Amino acid sequence: MTQASAKQQRDILVTSALPYANGPIHLGHLLEYIQTDIWVRYQNMRGQNCYYVCADDAHGTAIMLRAEREGITSEQLIDRIREEHQQDFAGFHIRFDNYYTTHSEENRQFSEYIYRQLQENGHIATRKITQSYDPEKNMFLADRFIKGTCPKCKTEDQYGDNCEACGATYTPAELINPVSAVSGATPIEKESEHYFFKLPDFADFLANWTRSGTLQPQVANKLAEWLDAGLQEWDISRDAPYFGFEIPDAPGKYFYVWLDAPIGYLASFKNLCNRENIDFEHFWKTDSTAEVYHFIGKDIINFHALFWPSMLHDAGFRTPTAVWAHGFVTVNGKKMSKSRGTFIMARTYLDHLNPEYLRYYFAAKLTSGVDDMDLNLEDFAARVNSDLVGKVVNIASRSAGFITKRFNGQLGQVTEVERLREFIDAGKEIEEFYEAREFGRAMRRIMELADTANQYVNDEQPWVIAKQEAQDEKLQAICTNAINMFRLLMTYLAPVLPKTAEASEHFLSAKLDWNNRAQLLENHHINKFKPLMNRVDMSQIEKMLDDSREELPAPADKQDPMQEEKSKLEPVADEIEFGDFAKVDLRVAKIVKAEHVEGADKLLRLTLDIGHGDKNVFAGIKSAYRPEDLEGRLTVMVANLKPRKMKFGLSEGMVLAAGPGGKDIFILSPDSGATPGMRIM
Ligand code: MSP
Ligand code: ZN
Repeated sequence: MTQASAKQQRDILVTSALPYANGPIHLGHLLEYIQTDIWVRYQNMRGQNCYYVCADDAHGTAIMLRAEREGITSEQLIDRIREEHQQDFAGFHIRFDNYYTTHSEENRQFSEYIYRQLQENGHIATRKITQSYDPEKNMFLADRFIKGTCPKCKTEDQYGDNCEACGATYTPAELINPVSAVSGATPIEKESEHYFFKLPDFADFLANWTRSGTLQPQVANKLAEWLDAGLQEWDISRDAPYFGFEIPDAPGKYFYVWLDAPIGYLASFKNLCNRENIDFEHFWKTDSTAEVYHFIGKDIINFHALFWPSMLHDAGFRTPTAVWAHGFVTVNGKKMSKSRGTFIMARTYLDHLNPEYLRYYFAAKLTSGVDDMDLNLEDFAARVNSDLVGKVVNIASRSAGFITKRFNGQLGQVTEVERLREFIDAGKEIEEFYEAREFGRAMRRIMELADTANQYVNDEQPWVIAKQEAQDEKLQAICTNAINMFRLLMTYLAPVLPKTAEASEHFLSAKLDWNNRAQLLENHHINKFKPLMNRVDMSQIEKMLDDSREELPAPADKQDPMQEEKSKLEPVADEIEFGDFAKVDLRVAKIVKAEHVEGADKLLRLTLDIGHGDKNVFAGIKSAYRPEDLEGRLTVMVANLKPRKMKFGLSEGMVLAAGPGGKDIFILSPDSGATPGMRIM
């Protein structure tokens, strides 16, 4: 904490949405965590008392089913995923004060407490509802776990709530030939008692709350529409089997994951408070003077702006100061896609690129609004190279050498007092931009200053002065001015570029102190300059995209929680012409060699003989076959597939296999008597 006096210091609690524990962190998620982290770092740099907590959202059916498929307990699965998530976040320099899990004792207690309050205050109703039920798995099926033929347009293999082909919405009961996506069984209808949160009781409260400056204008308008349309009771219970918390006095009934997820904010903070002796009450009592902000994506506004404030209000907690939604990330103008390689995991990005590039790019494009953000990869490279490397770092690298070589690392006197005053004063505007989450405007202002600094160096031409006699004092002054400009720029960029800021502090042998930035560095010793950041190369980006394609089949994502089950019921693809089929050259191939691939989870490297020289093929069959069991076998290969560059080398074809995945992948074998190279008709 810095100089801000205790009286002015704000107490702030900040959260990001809790990522689901059933999939890895990808670049879409990262927009939110980077946005939040920048804001929090800014607040702390200004001397505010700002905490940032988060957690994995660990409950629900999808997690339970995935653990089952992997043959481990749900607890084991969520522990492993949390570890991975934390590594990904750390890789992007996201600095949480606490990263917890919703499957915690604190969360159970808060959930029970809040539920009991709602119940005592008469806001819980129970009634029987009829739902689809899987008679083989003995479980109720949420709409997205049922598939069938669209009742309207008759397209097969549609989800239980809407048709991707014609856009119709319906109930699972209306599907033709419905099947359970979990077991393949035909669902039956079954009754069971459910618990409801009576949200309509809070209509007046919400009408006020949503209009009291707690929401962005666009969001408040949306909410007004929902409120006008009338609120529905919210089903907060799920029947066993379910991975979650059992509802008190309701054996076999569990809290729906979205009930305990936001309560996870309280639980994570409580866990931090216990560990660090922070006053939890001070932040959460109804008349609290502390501030609480939730950063979320626009897809989960209803949970945060309707249910959550109502629950808090009723249970006697303060409500959030504000809920801030952001838009969705697209890559190169399109929804992130696995086949285009633009569904980029945090880990894959980190294998190839510096995390600060992405932090800067997101910052440069972020506003306080809910518009979607496009990550255009060429623009990304161009911006990082021109702004960070070309402008900011350049100022230091152009002046530091002279200070080190000619003045023994010693800065002289600042002579450009006016110009530096402009740099210092600009900090006030930049403060306002950061505070208002107008990071794009902050970055633009900082880059204007960087332009000014570069112009100054260009005009003064220290490299010319350096060759002139008796100009030492002038040379030292020019470099001292420039390095002070650099220091101010890095101070303003520190929330976005924490690692480069750290390296700059080492180089300058001085702190980047926002509140005391008017104290310039004069007659001060600095360290030898080391390159602070490299240029982005398009080839690194290409490699990242290649690797993202390689990682198929990708884990389940938000849009498609049943991704992995689906393969069992894979629909027949669109019709093709005979000519398309005739182009495929299928050959009998002998597996002459099969080996593990260092670092690949799913691939084996096969050397195939088709009588035309050996072909190298990477096949995703490691889960089903040991290499030694494959050698000598015959299989079927697509022989004329265009070679494809993969992370581990060139793949020159494909072997045909069948099955849902995991251990059940079967290499297609031709009849005995076939010889390698034989064409399959
Ligand atoms: N578990 C819930 C949140 C519970 S909060 C009490 C959830 N998880 S999520 O993993 O699907 O998403 C976490 C956050 O990432 C959400 O705020 C979501 O909006 C955001 N994003 C997920 N994909 C995104 C993009 N492609 N682009 C931007 N944000 C995205 O929702
Ligand atoms: Zn349809």
